Amino acid sequence: MRRPLRRVVARALGVSVRVKIMGIALGLVLLLGVGAVLHSQRVSRATLTRELDERAVSIARDTAVRAADFILFEDLVSLRDLVLDTMAASKDVRYIFVLDARANILAHTFGHFLPPDLQPANSGGEYAGGFRIQRLASEEGILRDVAVPIFGGRAGVVRVGMSAERLERTLTRTTQQLFLLIAAVSLLGVLAAYLPTAILTRPLLELRNLTRAVGRGDFSSRARVRFGDEIGQLAAAFNTMVENLERADAERSRLLDELRAKEQMRRELLEKVISAQEDERKRVARELHDETSQSLASLMVGLKVLESADRLEEARGKAGELRSVVDDVLRGVHDLAWELRPSLLDSLGLAAAIQRSAEEYGERVGLRIDCQVADLDHHRRLPPEVETAVYRIVQEALTNVAKHAQATRVSVVLRHRGDSLLAIVEDDGRGFDVEAVLGTAPVEKRLGLFGMSERAALLGGRFSIESAPGRGSTVFVEVPFEGTL
Ligand SMILES: Nc1ncnc2c1ncn2[C@@H]1O[C@H](COP(=O)(O)OP(=O)(O)O)[C@@H](O)[C@H]1O
Ligand SMILES: [Mg+2]
Repeated sequence: MRRPLRRVVARALGVSVRVKIMGIALGLVLLLGVGAVLHSQRVSRATLTRELDERAVSIARDTAVRAADFILFEDLVSLRDLVLDTMAASKDVRYIFVLDARANILAHTFGHFLPPDLQPANSGGEYAGGFRIQRLASEEGILRDVAVPIFGGRAGVVRVGMSAERLERTLTRTTQQLFLLIAAVSLLGVLAAYLPTAILTRPLLELRNLTRAVGRGDFSSRARVRFGDEIGQLAAAFNTMVENLERADAERSRLLDELRAKEQMRRELLEKVISAQEDERKRVARELHDETSQSLASLMVGLKVLESADRLEEARGKAGELRSVVDDVLRGVHDLAWELRPSLLDSLGLAAAIQRSAEEYGERVGLRIDCQVADLDHHRRLPPEVETAVYRIVQEALTNVAKHAQATRVSVVLRHRGDSLLAIVEDDGRGFDVEAVLGTAPVEKRLGLFGMSERAALLGGRFSIESAPGRGSTVFVEVPFEGTL
């Protein structure tokens, strides 16, 4: 029982705001109108009924006064004329009859005889205020029967029957007219409410459509803020929300793109690292095979010759030759070991390794590399991964300078900054557009810069480049002492 009711209420409340407001207007007009009509009908019925009663009483009194003489002189003909004339003169009177003191009928307005049950009705009881009223049911509705005594009842009674039919008809007619008026006013009210509700609800409908658009991911539209009322405030708040959403969405897409690009670079870097490792092994194998084994083979041959040497002079000469071969082999092995992993990094630490590497590299490519590592605490050893990372980053930076910069001066600076190690490689070469290069990096497969920044990031450090065409380049790397590997 309660469920369907709730469903009906929910459906009624689910209609559009416009219909709701117009419904409220209509309901108010109807409520007020119907209430006013019912009240006024009640009041006017009471007033009109009282007036009808008063008229009936006064007609009955008047008739009683005038009938008294005719009764005393027993002039029944005049008495009959009197009652007929009186009834004809008054519209609402339905009957008049006169009784003598013993309740015999002296005159009446009915054609032949009085209806038998009329006389006993309203016959007993007191005359409060000089009259007595009783309601009687009849064919034409309720009649008001008024009895007024003649000479205090000693000469008889006059009875007058009044019909309230005309009164009821008038009341019904006016009520119908009033209801018609209410209907017209309600219609006007609904029409009049339509315009303001349309004005009120239009921004709401607009907001609803915009919200749907935002839900579909379209952030381009904004709500119009018309006035400073609640709806205007809602529109303004909505706009702020959409702006924030749009910004967040753009940021999200940007981060996503960045992430994808980074992922791509990482993959390429990994491939490059693997293939570089392979190349390196091949190179080492070739070096060992072509150079070292060759030298060792010729050393073997030389030793055989030495074995079979007859003369000391000859043996000495051969030994000298062999020593220089061993010398070559030693240098070759040493160089190979250095290139694979600078042993100084392990034994002497980062500063010395970088210094030596820079000197050697500069000599090889014909660059003057100015190395400033004096500020570094040479006794403080850093975690090996930090040293290796910084070493490789500086190496790559120097390789870039030799490859791209056409510089005349290069400086490498290593120093402490707070709890981290700062490395700076600066050249006075032709420089480059950092943004453009980093932006196109994944396509162009330039992974050097990306590899440097990845190495730094892996240790919780930072990497940045300052450069502009014609203005040289500076690479900054900062890695915390306690690497986060
Ligand atoms: N010190 C530098 N001077 C001038 N250009 C540089 C320097 N370092 C890097 N670049 C530019 O940045 C690009 C990207 O460098 P990198 O990522 O190391 O890739 P690669 O060295 O393989 O080209 C280089 O191709 C070069 O154009
Ligand atoms: Mg490079």
